[in-house]
Amino acid sequence: MHASSPRPASFSAPGPLRGSIAVPGDKSISHRALMLSALAIGESRVEGLLTGEDVLATAAAMRAMGAHIVRESAATGGGGRAMGASIERGDDDVWRIHGVGVGGLLQPEGALEMGNSGTSTRLLMGLVASHAITATFTGDASLSKRPMNRVIEPLSLMGADVTATPGGKGGTLPLMLRGISPAVPIDYRLPVASAQVKSAVLLAGLNTPGITRVIEPVATRDHSERMLRGFGAELEVEQAADGARIISIRGEAELRPQHIVVPGDPSSAAFPAVAALLVPGSAVTIANVGLNPTRAALFDVLRMMGGDIEFANPREVGGEPVADIVVRHSTLKGIETPVETVASMVDEYPILFVAAALAEGRTVARGLEELRVKESDRIAVMAEGLRAIGARVEELEDGLIIDGTGGDPLPGGATIAARLDHRIAMSFAVAGLVSKAAVTIDDMGPVATSFPGFTRLMGELGAVAA
Ligand code: S3P
Repeated sequence: MHASSPRPASFSAPGPLRGSIAVPGDKSISHRALMLSALAIGESRVEGLLTGEDVLATAAAMRAMGAHIVRESAATGGGGRAMGASIERGDDDVWRIHGVGVGGLLQPEGALEMGNSGTSTRLLMGLVASHAITATFTGDASLSKRPMNRVIEPLSLMGADVTATPGGKGGTLPLMLRGISPAVPIDYRLPVASAQVKSAVLLAGLNTPGITRVIEPVATRDHSERMLRGFGAELEVEQAADGARIISIRGEAELRPQHIVVPGDPSSAAFPAVAALLVPGSAVTIANVGLNPTRAALFDVLRMMGGDIEFANPREVGGEPVADIVVRHSTLKGIETPVETVASMVDEYPILFVAAALAEGRTVARGLEELRVKESDRIAVMAEGLRAIGARVEELEDGLIIDGTGGDPLPGGATIAARLDHRIAMSFAVAGLVSKAAVTIDDMGPVATSFPGFTRLMGELGAVAA
């Protein structure tokens, strides 16, 4: 997990941002690729896997439960590929995974250390729930505040027994989950729009006899569904009369090993993309970005605000739509952000708020109550930080109202507490590029959870970190 001594930094842009970069692999897809490979029988190969700390926590947990996972460095084994920065990033590495088979997870010896990763925790709780094993989940200070009741509830209905920390609000880590086999199949209607809860139930359903169903009133990222099918699980998606998605999985599936190529993470691409929109004279290409419609709404919203964003060379990689994103500096206009697509850009609001702070006129963003239970309370933390650097912001229970500068730089001149939240740290790194006085982020360490190489890649485009 990231170093405990804080790594402060401030970012500035002496001139336009220019050039072409590729961001690391998609975090959501990387977690799922490891988990499903670890349950297939035979060897899966994964390329482009994110080597961020969150994903490494998933890899360690799957190893602790019996999977054989080897990271073959391109520098040492993978066919003599060229040396260079990409090797240091680990993007060229090939991961070879021998799974244990559905139902074959072993009792882990120690606690599963989840670090900062909500996705690892919730999805793995689903996997453990339908195996006759017991696992203890621990996490860092941020993760230990996040509510797990949203997964404890359906997994308990399936027969799992969970003891969370007494007194923790919403069922918090550390917690102990005693799984059961055979578990009971359920039909579960999601009370919150959450891909993590959906995935936890579907993954529990993998080793449960019969059909497990999740009813999703609001569509959330569908990587689990796509990948489960890709591995050979019997999974159906239907539309209910009220528009909800009904996802059914037949349990006791046999998964076939796969070769997966993970596309670049749109949630990481969001930071250089907004930076290019805001810094005058910029023109930046971000290559190989995943544009699954359940993930890519930020780019639509930025276009609605007047952002010059093109998708070049559209193609399919590993069953996911991918393109190169070309972004040029633009004069943005404030808007009312659409509530229908909140789930399809749920992680992108912090950086959208930065864009809104530089736009002309008012941006009203609502329907964002889920942001309060992410790695930090992203509504409160963004409101406080933006105000500290001179933006005009009003905090609502479920969102923010932001009156932008019309393109003028923000005053800046403050230190921002990132609160163990990678996306807060990166959002204020971008805000620093368009502020008069320095914006210091108290700790860039958490960025390694999702976007290793962030500072270096921003540097390749012309940003300066001090
Ligand atoms: C994720 C789902 C989202 C998102 C998180 C990753 C996933 O969380 O915020 O970063 O990989 O399923 P919720 O499902 O809790 O909204």
